[in-house]
Amino acid sequence: MTTTLITGIGELTTNDDELGRLSDAAVVIDDSRIAWVGPAGHAEPADARVDVGGRAALPGWVDSHTHLVFAGDRTAEFEARMAGQPYSAGGIARTVEATRAASDDELAATVRRLVREAVSQGTTYLETKTGYGLTVADEARSARIAAEHADEVTFLGAHIVPPDTGADDYLATVTGPMLDAVAPLVRWVDVFCESGAFDAAQSERVLRAAAERGLGLRVHGNQLAEGPGVELAVRLGAASVDHCTYLSDADVDALAGSDTVATLLPACDLSTRQPLAPARRLLDAGAVIALASNANPGSSYTTSMAFCVATAVLQQRLSVDEAVWAATRGGAKALRADTGDGAVGVLRPGARADLHVLDAPSVTHLAYRPGVPLTAAVWRNGVRDF
Ligand code: NIG
Repeated sequence: MTTTLITGIGELTTNDDELGRLSDAAVVIDDSRIAWVGPAGHAEPADARVDVGGRAALPGWVDSHTHLVFAGDRTAEFEARMAGQPYSAGGIARTVEATRAASDDELAATVRRLVREAVSQGTTYLETKTGYGLTVADEARSARIAAEHADEVTFLGAHIVPPDTGADDYLATVTGPMLDAVAPLVRWVDVFCESGAFDAAQSERVLRAAAERGLGLRVHGNQLAEGPGVELAVRLGAASVDHCTYLSDADVDALAGSDTVATLLPACDLSTRQPLAPARRLLDAGAVIALASNANPGSSYTTSMAFCVATAVLQQRLSVDEAVWAATRGGAKALRADTGDGAVGVLRPGARADLHVLDAPSVTHLAYRPGVPLTAAVWRNGVRDF
């Protein structure tokens, strides 16, 4: 085991209530864990030493919502949207067709490429989903490839009802043999609860089958209109309900009084020409929010968490600190990975050693210099990865 002292941190955002934000700070990494955090002048010597020259550092981004196991390209659909066509769940079927036709190696290469793209922009912990296979064999293959490359894997067999299948038959497959096939590979089960995908009763059926097998619950909801997704997620104790673009007052109140995180996907809202999710309203009501990229080839083809943070500040009226927290500790809470040994989204002794150094003196530059690649260095699980 080797220890590394990272020193010369001009501004350190820890997300830890007691440590807070430090100036002229240092961090000691011991193998895959943070061993020490404090003023640079008090740091103990280590086997190796890296001076980051006064730059700002923060926990790596926790991207709690991506769909990276896919093939094909939907540029034409994006162009049509920018010319005024609405986004609909129907485009997913195009990606399903291309994904089924792709080889394992092609799918794995895409996931690898996108994970690398994300890490080089400061993402250190990443969830990804199945959902473009939609047969037992294709979903199992997607789950296997996801598990090889992502920190957390979600089964999204209930993404849409595949063309040429009836909804009842398909739900019987999703909650039966498909769930059996993926269960050993995934921690979470998700459902797209939206008009054009699954209604409240169908979604509840999927989530209850998952809960019976001891899997954690997530919901895609309230993306294209107000609907039952938030209520369902809160009632069943889902860890997160994702999108939350259209919320009633009752939805906001329900989220504020629950442990379900509202995961907001600003890049998706922009790319689908929806209004931006009401981040300020949620925070003011007392809800916990996360920011995630929703990287996928249809509604949000970006891995940039910095873009999401800048958008949340510039357009959704969050402070920089609120947005950075939502993209780090908020994402960790949405994945229930924020406590105990190896917690992510926080820098304190015992946390996973995930550190993001910015080529900037403060985290404010993430919004002050939008679109500028500010990642200077990344340690992921204790290893220098960029
Ligand atoms: O989170 N909303 C459902 N699923 C994805 C979109 C996938 C696609 O359009 O391919 C999402 O936006």
